[in-house]
Amino acid sequence: MPESTDLRTTDTVSLDDNENSVVIIDQTLIPGEVRLLSIRDEDEMYDAIKRLVVRGAPAIGVFAAFGLYVLSRDMTDLSREAFIAELKKKADHLNSSRPTAVNLSWALKRMLKAAEDNENLSVQEIVEILRKEAIAIRDEDVEICRGIGEHGLSLLKPGYRILTHCNAGSLATVRYGTATAPIYLGHEKGYNFKVYCDETRPLLQGARLTAFELTQHGIDTTVLCDNMSASLMARGEVDAVLVGCDRVAANGDAANKIGTSLLALAAKHYGVPFYVCAPSSTLDPDTATGSDIEIEMRDPDEVTEMWYEKRMAPEGVKVYNPAFDVTDHSLITGIITETGVAYPPYAESLRR
Ligand code: MRU
Repeated sequence: MPESTDLRTTDTVSLDDNENSVVIIDQTLIPGEVRLLSIRDEDEMYDAIKRLVVRGAPAIGVFAAFGLYVLSRDMTDLSREAFIAELKKKADHLNSSRPTAVNLSWALKRMLKAAEDNENLSVQEIVEILRKEAIAIRDEDVEICRGIGEHGLSLLKPGYRILTHCNAGSLATVRYGTATAPIYLGHEKGYNFKVYCDETRPLLQGARLTAFELTQHGIDTTVLCDNMSASLMARGEVDAVLVGCDRVAANGDAANKIGTSLLALAAKHYGVPFYVCAPSSTLDPDTATGSDIEIEMRDPDEVTEMWYEKRMAPEGVKVYNPAFDVTDHSLITGIITETGVAYPPYAESLRR
């Protein structure tokens, strides 16, 4: 039975009391309703990630880790070899749900490594190790976001007008968010920020999710269409841009929600500092540059039909619908991580 819940006091991803399912906030229903959903089946897990019921790079990493643990609990009658082989199969399946955010494969690899490093133990003991690993991934996510909040806040002044894109908020992580963490921390300290949320076409994560969570926290929030941010910057009404990211390449190129790179270009032109908030789980030293990042292409209906009462483009027209773009490192003022702010040249600062 679905229950209504308070976003401010609920983790975006958690385990149920019996650890038989992963509990998530259904992000397709916000802002109309905040409803919890219990998911215990592998295909439902795949579908939840694919349909953005759970979304945001860190949140899908934690969800996949909890998911693999929950699935492993049903496999205790297998031999050790069969258990590990089945675990890999399930991890590969979940990993194929969305390609761009590195956190998904990062969390699944971490879970598999924990199992493989202990393959001499009994299956029951390996399941317990998977449990601990998934909980560690969740706990680290919360700590990391707090760290990003502290380092991010050191770059902001009271009264700042901050522009953000998509949702890199608490809904995209377990708690606090990445791009919103400095905002929440500053809000607690009376910084009186004014936040502009890009609507974020086509799935409206800015208007539906970021605007919802910020207003729930009592933060001064304004929504604008994606094509309005340059005009706002031209009027001198933005002091800083804070965005999240789905994968940062070794040279500092950062993949994030489609439209982020346009924002960075405008920010550069108008001299507005542009910061990418990146938990270490989003840094991918194995990807050399942004052009090596696979960009997810999504259903044309998201552009032509979704949200409209009737279709808004001619039947049969071709649609270009990439979910992410890559912001060139030369447009990024600084990359805020949980251990500090990295500045150019990123190839060196990120490695450090
Ligand atoms: O397609 P989405 O909604 O999962 O895209 C999310 C983003 O682009 C976020 O900015 C990114 O994952 C960082 S979340 C802390």
